[in-house]
Amino acid sequence: MRTLLLCLLTAFMHAQDAFLVKPYLQLGDAPRSMPKERLDLMWHTEDRDGAWIVEVRGAQGWTALAGATFHRLDTPPLPAHRIHRVTMNNLPQGASVPYRVKLDGAVVFEAEAQTRKAGAHRMIVLGDAANGSATQAAIARAVAAARPDAVFIAGDLVYGRGRASEYRAHFFPVYNSDETPLMRRVPVLGVPGNHDVPYDLKKWPDAPAYFAYWSLPLNGPALKAGEANAAPVVAGVHDAVVAASGPAFPRMASFSFDYGKVHWTVLDSNVYTDWESPALKAWLEADLKAAKGAAWRIVALHHPLFQSSRTHADDQWMRPISPILEKYGVDLVLAGHVHNYQRTVPLRFRPTKVGPRGKAVAGEFTVDQAFDGKTVTRAKGIIHIVTGAGGAELYDSWQTDAKASWQPWTRAFISDRHSFTVLDVKAKTLKLRQLDTEGRELDAITLTK
Ligand SMILES: [Fe+2]
Repeated sequence: MRTLLLCLLTAFMHAQDAFLVKPYLQLGDAPRSMPKERLDLMWHTEDRDGAWIVEVRGAQGWTALAGATFHRLDTPPLPAHRIHRVTMNNLPQGASVPYRVKLDGAVVFEAEAQTRKAGAHRMIVLGDAANGSATQAAIARAVAAARPDAVFIAGDLVYGRGRASEYRAHFFPVYNSDETPLMRRVPVLGVPGNHDVPYDLKKWPDAPAYFAYWSLPLNGPALKAGEANAAPVVAGVHDAVVAASGPAFPRMASFSFDYGKVHWTVLDSNVYTDWESPALKAWLEADLKAAKGAAWRIVALHHPLFQSSRTHADDQWMRPISPILEKYGVDLVLAGHVHNYQRTVPLRFRPTKVGPRGKAVAGEFTVDQAFDGKTVTRAKGIIHIVTGAGGAELYDSWQTDAKASWQPWTRAFISDRHSFTVLDVKAKTLKLRQLDTEGRELDAITLTK
């Protein structure tokens, strides 16, 4: 009896020691739905050798997966650590697949992975997230309680500067804790915002950790380090993060993927990108053009095209892509950056005057006044959503009740509480709801085709 207890205690201690960051799911480089799905599983450990094996349970029982690899990240202030990754192949579509992780023969972690669904599904979107606040944790709990199939974070993934040490302090402990086990159950995707890429270029050697810690499709514009439109890094400062990122840097900043009948185009909208440049524009057009089988098209980025908050009012540099999005039938644009919730009427926009970054982009608006999302559900134009109330402190809460301060095409503006967006997509019906930390519905529209 005593031996058994000792064995159990040793196994428990082993499991506690095994991880710096417990296993979390990523979509990996799998942009398209497949009859046999795949997911990447990642976890972080101290920089020491161990025999890691990931097993997946199917009809034949547990099967060990080959091909686990790791990158080492050695840059201050964290001690050197390993970022492990294994691709889980040949998974059934739309299933909850049991998996477990073994270290030196002992099971140290077990969970179930939700694979991509071919049809009806629930995607949750939030922005401006991990700042270490109690609100961030409350939103995380509410998101988990809403049982999404996948989650998308619309930039400003982690505050203040996208550093590895910040992910360790207040990203993974909130979204992948034993209390809120979101990332081990469903893939969480994201796009870098202005806080996720180096700002003061020489100051933070453990940024931009996005490229090392996430595994997302590598089908974006084929950018190379140092090129225009690529996230800037400095040789001699960010070398360790760049090395640990492999092919993800700088390419993974933009990408596209399908989920169910939705095509998602994910754009790095940071100030160093120019989506009017031939390389980026050609990629955007080709991506949207190729999405012929999709019932819905969503563009997700950090910087909104259209919003009413006084804060960041002139951050309008993504507006010039609106005509391309309209041409290819984009239904929704989801953004963050502005820390509140906003929804526009369906609209079209022709830019007439594009000035320098940080200055207003003027143009002509055509708005669909008939759409109400209740009785009239076919939209003529693109609905722009700001869902930047996912954790960080709110902007301009006074505007919630000051309609006169809203742009004429804004239909909802909620900045007196934190919230997130739930998208329920079923064939030709898309329901969008905005929920608060208690799961209360703040806004809701239905779109049909
Ligand atoms: Fe931002």
